[in-house]
Amino acid sequence: MSLPGSGSGHASVSGSPKVYVKVPASTANLGPGFDALGMALNLYAWIEMGIAPATEIRLYGDQMSGVPTDKSNLIYKVAQQVFDKAGVSHPELDIAMYSDIPLTRGLGSSASAIVGALVAANALIGNKLSSHELFQMASALEKHPDNVSASLFGGLTVAFWDGERAEHLRIVPDDRLDILVAIPRFELATEKARHVLPEQVPMKDAVFNIGHASLLVAAFCTGRYDMIRHAMKDAIHQPYRAPLIPGMTDILQRAEEHGALGVALSGAGPTLLALVNRKEGRGAELERFLLDTLRGQGIEADTMWLQVSAEGATVLTHFDPGVSLIDNVKGNVRT
Ligand code: HSE
Repeated sequence: MSLPGSGSGHASVSGSPKVYVKVPASTANLGPGFDALGMALNLYAWIEMGIAPATEIRLYGDQMSGVPTDKSNLIYKVAQQVFDKAGVSHPELDIAMYSDIPLTRGLGSSASAIVGALVAANALIGNKLSSHELFQMASALEKHPDNVSASLFGGLTVAFWDGERAEHLRIVPDDRLDILVAIPRFELATEKARHVLPEQVPMKDAVFNIGHASLLVAAFCTGRYDMIRHAMKDAIHQPYRAPLIPGMTDILQRAEEHGALGVALSGAGPTLLALVNRKEGRGAELERFLLDTLRGQGIEADTMWLQVSAEGATVLTHFDPGVSLIDNVKGNVRT
């Protein structure tokens, strides 16, 4: 996360300070790292926040329909938590958000809204809270640290949250890594996808996941991408979620035959995510396999080629407070 110095809000046309934050989407779990591994993706949301005489919330982008624009809005509520913790009061806010991140598809849209709101509200009050404090708040809000750590810090994050404390370390995979996502055209609420999980798992499945998640992290740290196909396997959440995503089991079993380094359900789904070595050049074949397999089960999907976003949530200093957020964002999409 890059934060500006204290009091760096830009003046708007009306003279009140405004801040702008760019925050990445994320994938969570990467197969075995349930609630522990996250990776920031170069698909973004932008938030503008300022102190205002009366609250106004403007949401832009196809992903925003149905999101509330009153004080029940998540961004507004999270901003108020920052102010409460910092001991300041700003009950009326002017907020705008533009997002390219699909909602409820397993690409961390709620985590990016939470992280974007935390970072924007904190910047608005001169960064009174540390990034560690923001991470604690984000993890407590989401109840798992994987998506929020990736959106906040960028790169591939390894994190825990024990109900009281969150800690993380960040790795940036080297630039051979491409990420192909197949986003089914249906929504799957995280709550529903967590509800199908058992309260307890057999010891052998826990041991399976500890070994595989640890090997996956070591594969990224050492650049041993040949190990990803062995490591990116899970026994504690994907098998239970597979009935919610027709075609998923087939994709998990066969994507490597079509050029994937490894494949997993992205977060709680329904998006499927394949890691690809850019230099191997079998992307078109893999894309066809994912789409055909889902279509064979009656599921239409959209694919997107992404990369790791090494940067997490970033306060932007070049946006112009004299024009709308949309005008500011134009030309910044997917950079
Ligand atoms: N680790 C979480 C899950 C991610 O799999 O439920 C949800 O985005």
